[in-house]
Amino acid sequence: MKTTSLLLLSLLLSSCGGSGSEPQPEPPLPPALGSLREAAFPFGAAVNVNLLRSSAAYQGVVTREYRSVTAENAMKFRSLHPDAATYAWTDADYLVQYARQTNSRVHGHTLIWHNSLPAWVTGFQGDSAAWETLMKTHIQTVVGHFRGQVASWDVVNEAVAEDGTLRPSPWLQHLGPDYVARAFQYARQADPDAKLFYNDYGHEYGPTKRTAILNLVSSLKARGIPIDGIGLQLHTSLTRSDANLATAITSAAQTGLLVHISELDVAVNPGNQAGLAWSDALAAAQKAKYKLIVQTFNALPAAQRFGITTWNVTDADTWVRGACGCPDWPLPFNEQYQKKPAYDGIVEGLQ
Ligand code: G3I
Repeated sequence: MKTTSLLLLSLLLSSCGGSGSEPQPEPPLPPALGSLREAAFPFGAAVNVNLLRSSAAYQGVVTREYRSVTAENAMKFRSLHPDAATYAWTDADYLVQYARQTNSRVHGHTLIWHNSLPAWVTGFQGDSAAWETLMKTHIQTVVGHFRGQVASWDVVNEAVAEDGTLRPSPWLQHLGPDYVARAFQYARQADPDAKLFYNDYGHEYGPTKRTAILNLVSSLKARGIPIDGIGLQLHTSLTRSDANLATAITSAAQTGLLVHISELDVAVNPGNQAGLAWSDALAAAQKAKYKLIVQTFNALPAAQRFGITTWNVTDADTWVRGACGCPDWPLPFNEQYQKKPAYDGIVEGLQ
C-alpha cells in the first residue's frame, strides 16, 4: 500500500474513533452569564445616588448588572443626620425605593464610623452617658427608619487601626472599647431581622490587622453579641499578592460568619504615577486579580457567601482617583459604561 493510502486509512480510522468506540462529546461549557445578577450570590455595587438619579447610562448598568446596592455616601452619619435634631432621608429613601422597584437588596453603610461625622458630633460636649445616648439614638432612628427595607448593616466600620489596636476614634474616646458590642445590640433591637456586619479594610495587608479584626469579631460572636457577618472592604491593588488576598477571604470564613466582600476595587496605579496610561498589560493583570478574588469567594460554603459589592460602577466614578489625585482604573466598567477585561475575570471567577 502506498504511503498516501496508508495516511488516508489512518485518518478514516481516527475519525471513526479508532478503537471502535463512539467519539466522546466535549463536556458542556457552563452557560454564559447574561449579567452579574445571575451570580449564585448577590453581586452588588456601591451607588452614587446623584448619578443614579441623573444618568440613564449609570442607572442602566446598575439595574442590568447588580442585585444588591450599597449607598456610597447617602447612609453615612453626616448625610443622614447632619444636625442633632435633623435627619435627611431623601437620597437614602430614593435608593431604597429604587431597590424595591428593581428587586435588589440594600446593604446599609454605615452606622458607626470615625469618618464622615457631622460637626455637631465631632464637637459634641457631653459625658459618656450623653455620648451613649447619641450613639444609641442615631443607630435606632436610622435602623428603625429602614426596618424591613435594608437587609443588612455595616454596624461598625474601621474600628481597628493598622497596628491591630482599636482606632482612637471619638467613639472609643468617649465610650470605651465596648462601644463596638453595644452598637450591635442597639442595631439588633431596632431591626431583629437585619444582618449585622463588622466592616473593615486591610485583611489582605498581612497578619497584624487581619488577626486583630478576626479576634474582635470572634470574641463578639463568642460573647453572644448579635453579629452576623464580616465585611472585607478589599480596596486592593495589583501589588497585593494572590496568597494574601486568598488568605483574607478564607480566614474570614473560618469565623463561621457571613462574608461580604463589601467595597471591592483593584487599583492599578499604586505608585500614584501622574503619567500612567491604561494598557493591555494592566487590563490583563487586573482581570487576573478580580478572577482570583471572585473564584476564592465562590469556593466558600454557600451559606456564608453573603455577596460581593464593588465600590461604585465605572472608572469615572471611583473614589480612588480623587484620593490619589492620579489616573487609575479600578472598576469593572470603563468611563463609557463598557465592560472591561476585569468584568470577564469576574465572570470566569463565578463559573
Ligand atoms: O457632598 C459633599 C458636597 O456637598 C461638597 O460640596 C463636596 C466638597 O468636597 O463634598 C461632598 O462630600 C464628599 C462626599 O464624598 C460625596 O462626594 C466628601 O467631601 C468626601 O469626603 C466623600 O468621600 C467619600 C469617603 O468615603 C468619605 O466618606 C467617598 O465618596 C467614598 O467613596 C468613601 O468610601 C469609603 C467607605 O465609606 C469606607 N471604606 C473606604 C471607602 C473609600 O474611602
